[in-house]
Amino acid sequence: MPVQSANRRASLSKRRAAVSEMFDHVAPRYDLVNDLLSLGLDRLWRTQTVNAVEPKPGQLILDLAAGTGTSSHPFTASGATVIPTDLSEGMLAVGKVRQPGLSFVNADALALPFADKTFDAVTISFGLRNVENVHAALVEMYRVTKPGGRIVICEFSTPTWKPFRHLYRRYLVRAFPVVVPFTSTNPVAYDYLVESILAWPDQRSLAAELTRAGWQRAGWKNLSGGVVALHRAHR
Ligand SMILES: C[S@@+](CC[C@H](N)C(=O)[O-])C[C@H]1O[C@@H](n2cnc3c(N)ncnc32)[C@H](O)[C@@H]1O
Repeated sequence: MPVQSANRRASLSKRRAAVSEMFDHVAPRYDLVNDLLSLGLDRLWRTQTVNAVEPKPGQLILDLAAGTGTSSHPFTASGATVIPTDLSEGMLAVGKVRQPGLSFVNADALALPFADKTFDAVTISFGLRNVENVHAALVEMYRVTKPGGRIVICEFSTPTWKPFRHLYRRYLVRAFPVVVPFTSTNPVAYDYLVESILAWPDQRSLAAELTRAGWQRAGWKNLSGGVVALHRAHR
């Protein structure tokens, strides 16, 4: 094995372990902190995500980076079967208690334990930002999607109105450190959250990334002025 590739693998597995450990720590309070920091808007974003996926009875949906299953649960009302999949054992353990009706799978987005062309739709909410290699994850999601199937990504994005964008960034940088110490078991994780949101590509760049990974007809819808964007594309 070439030295460089061995080093790269070691660094990837270290990073994967770090991400997983970080979410293991925040798992018990994750949903509460989400509700507080998003001022309850996360519920609206989740409904919009389900609408964009358009699940039908009998369909099979992969919810990747599903965490505690909060993003998966809204799919159950549609009659589709949703498979919540996540890297963090801690998040899954909390999810299994809170959502006992769901069949959680422990897996890495970069090496999914599913056959080619398995799912009618794949979706990922607030997870793609945390994955080490976004391009590889989008290619892997493409692999497990049936031809004609769709991908929906719900992720923080760039507010479109400039004055609001500045306010929002100030909220992220100033409000998070105030709220988090009262709620989270690991404030470092939320520092990481702010940094990763600020560094994340804007709507157009993520759509281009989807196309680069083989997805077709990539487009997006802004939610809450672009605080969040729903990207959708087809295989
Ligand atoms: C912010 S949480 C989102 C959870 C859930 N989708 C939601 O909307 O509440 C991000 C999740 O991504 C998971 N994650 C990070 N890297 C991952 C990877 N490579 N494969 C699978 N899951 C991953 C974390 O374990 C964590 O549960």
